[in-house]
Amino acid sequence: MPHVTINGHRIDAPHGATILEAARGAGIAIPTLCHHPDLSNVGACRMCVVGVHGARALQTACTTPVTEGMVVDTNTPEAVETRKFVLEMLLTDHPNDCMACEVNGDCELQDLVYDYGVKWPEHGGKRHEWEIDPDPNPFIFIDRNKCILCSRCIRACGERQNRDVWSFAFRGFQTKLVAGADQLMLDAGCESCGQCVAYCPVGALYDKMSLGKGRLSQVKKVRTTCSYCGVGCNFDLNVRDGKIVRVTSTREAPVNGLALCVKGRYGYDYVHHPDRLTRPLVRAKWLRAEMLEENLNNNHWAVMGEAGKRQTTKGDGQAIQPLVEAPIPDGQMVISPDAFIQTDWDTALDVVARKFAQEKASHGGDAFAVLASAKCTNEENFLIAKLTRQLLATNSIDHCARL
Ligand code: SF4
Ligand code: SF4
Ligand code: SF4
Ligand code: FES
Repeated sequence: MPHVTINGHRIDAPHGATILEAARGAGIAIPTLCHHPDLSNVGACRMCVVGVHGARALQTACTTPVTEGMVVDTNTPEAVETRKFVLEMLLTDHPNDCMACEVNGDCELQDLVYDYGVKWPEHGGKRHEWEIDPDPNPFIFIDRNKCILCSRCIRACGERQNRDVWSFAFRGFQTKLVAGADQLMLDAGCESCGQCVAYCPVGALYDKMSLGKGRLSQVKKVRTTCSYCGVGCNFDLNVRDGKIVRVTSTREAPVNGLALCVKGRYGYDYVHHPDRLTRPLVRAKWLRAEMLEENLNNNHWAVMGEAGKRQTTKGDGQAIQPLVEAPIPDGQMVISPDAFIQTDWDTALDVVARKFAQEKASHGGDAFAVLASAKCTNEENFLIAKLTRQLLATNSIDHCARL
């Protein structure tokens, strides 16, 4: 375990640690841009330069391993000036539109420019004017004018998602982030996981569905578990005015960290879809006629779907009574016994409980089989098992990851 001295503090650093890891482990901050703890280090941005006694030049803390007896100063005047210069150089080719930017208040470049008091440089020199949002994919917004060429997206896609969609093409001022051989993202093998967005430190990559819907200071983040599959990824719903406007992943998620699949990250629009059932539907024939009439008349319930069709026979040919008897006055609705009635939860659960009790009394527990789902929480599946084995009195219970 090498002993190093950083800013006068003697530190026992783990074997193989970089200066950055040793410093952060001891609570000493060193600014970074291209570094991310989940990714390999490339030493691209030079924000993390520090003074090392005996070294001829500043060293990048993210790529330099500590050695026994090393003495490091993280904030020498030369290091601070170099960081300011790096930030000024980045701003020389960066749009000055923080006020309208999606990641205002959530941008690592903005924070460092603020911390180091760097001004946006007015100059008549050349700036890039890349087309904004040039890729027709439905999920990933690209603004190369904001790209600081840190390569975090490249490494995230290659090292975390194993897709290797992104790379840099061309040289010098022409250097450009490209998908595949400068192709469209989907043609380059992108599977729309959005991890490149999650690792981008600026607003160069963003979630297209969330454009203009709310920035960090305007949303409330609600940590939840994905309901799509049994992996059980955690993420934050970004909620503004009671509406989900974005999903962001978090390194604190124990199962998945910043990773999500396309469903978890972008499959949230169903939550507010107008076709989504938010109240239970019960067949008219399972409801008591007087309750049905009263609740329809006072608009507590509503007829859905099959209203207007009169059904007079069951599948076995046995005649059943329509709930509304003829003759029917002009304008009055005929309700088919199979019509769906939008009721309330108490009524619907009461119907289910009554039907379960009737079936159990007539045929015993073996009349039931229950399918649970890996998408439910452990607690929900535990309750389903209790219901099945103790109340329905059957052991016919199974689950499916796809239900
Ligand atoms: S969305 Fe996922 S697969 Fe597509 S480029 Fe980004 S990280 Fe790679
Ligand atoms: S798009 Fe973002 S993550 Fe990718 S290189 Fe540019 S700034 Fe870095
Ligand atoms: S659907 Fe995707 S995001 Fe959701 S839990 Fe499964 S792998 Fe994770
Ligand atoms: S963070 Fe070390 S060079 Fe970029």
